[in-house]
Amino acid sequence: MLSYPATATDWRQRARSRLPRFLFDYVDGGAGAEATLAANVQDFAALRLRQRVLVDVAQVDTRSQIAGQDCALPLALAPIGLAGMMARRGEAQAARAAAAVGVPFTLSTVGICPLAEVTAAAGQAPWFQLYMLRDRGAVQALLQQAWDAGSRTLVFTVDLPTTGLRHRDTRNGLAHGGARSALLRAGQVLARPGWVRRVALGGKPLTFGNLAAQVPGGRDLNAFKAWVDAQFDASVTWRDIAWLRGQWKGRLLIKGVLDAHDAQAAVDSGADGIVVSNHGGRQLDGAPSTARALPAIAQALAGRTELLVDGGIRSGVDVFKALALGARGVLVGRPWVWALAGRGEAGVRQLLATWQRELAVTMMLAGVTRVAEISHRHFDNPSQTGL
Ligand code: FNR
Repeated sequence: MLSYPATATDWRQRARSRLPRFLFDYVDGGAGAEATLAANVQDFAALRLRQRVLVDVAQVDTRSQIAGQDCALPLALAPIGLAGMMARRGEAQAARAAAAVGVPFTLSTVGICPLAEVTAAAGQAPWFQLYMLRDRGAVQALLQQAWDAGSRTLVFTVDLPTTGLRHRDTRNGLAHGGARSALLRAGQVLARPGWVRRVALGGKPLTFGNLAAQVPGGRDLNAFKAWVDAQFDASVTWRDIAWLRGQWKGRLLIKGVLDAHDAQAAVDSGADGIVVSNHGGRQLDGAPSTARALPAIAQALAGRTELLVDGGIRSGVDVFKALALGARGVLVGRPWVWALAGRGEAGVRQLLATWQRELAVTMMLAGVTRVAEISHRHFDNPSQTGL
């Protein structure tokens, strides 16, 4: 066991030792052969930066604004379904950590903690992530719920008309019901008695907190899951985004765009920003990494909307690289969940503080003092990026 986790990889190892296997794999895994998942990480890691010296970097500032919100660094926590299974009241703990550091937290539609709990824990409303549901009345009710809780930024996810095939989940029996898969998971749970005590017993209720009013039939997670699966609407088009735009008075970010034409359509539909994302390699295996997709989208949109990016960002150095590729800010997914599983709120706080320090150090060594000044000129060889 590592005593002092320093990097995302360290937190991942710690999460692996504390979570039942099926939960660790649910977070860690991707779709298909996990080629896009791997490419997300590798393509950021492969970018080379230009080192500059003897620039006055005594006053370096990582502060920025994303989606109109002041941030300690240009980063928000990505929406993660079921994060509350990884630590006791997980989303509330993570939102508290995000607020302490000064970055936005995004609550997933299928989070465990309800909006009200997360808002109370953090002392501020999170961004709210939504999937389109067949029942548009339920969508309207969720939007109203988010608005009433104080959320002003809606992250609308568009890359999930159906769920990608995640083979680790199949192997662990998550994709099946029945006694055999229950037995398989029970064995994995029994191997993690600390998790049973902290989360399974100490973290109740383990239900989709935001959907309590929408889902008939009690507080059983399987009933919720069945409802959600049946509600995912694969017929959604840009016309529905126009409808959604009319329903939401706050900021609207479209998450899950990987193609320049789609990015343009998102702008045309009235979105305030785009999250360039392949859902962390969990959807179309074989899709390009986001580090590869981002430059073309940035070029095509030429500043017409705010661009955020996620997928494979594993350090403050990667945050710098994402900005140099043309993003205004990043969303981070798995790393915060690993830190949460590893050490709860304190783990997430520690991870974010490290990344902020790492971004500041990277800026200083690249010879830049303000986030807004980071550009493709900071790459050793800008043509490596497709810019
Ligand atoms: C996700 N992601 C996601 N996205 C979303 O819009 N709603 C959701 O409920 C979820 N749930 C979810 C669960 C888990 C376990 C993971 C790993 C991811 C996608 C997420 O918001 C983000 O796009 C990716 O995680 C970014 O990639 P990295 O940072 O994990 O590499």
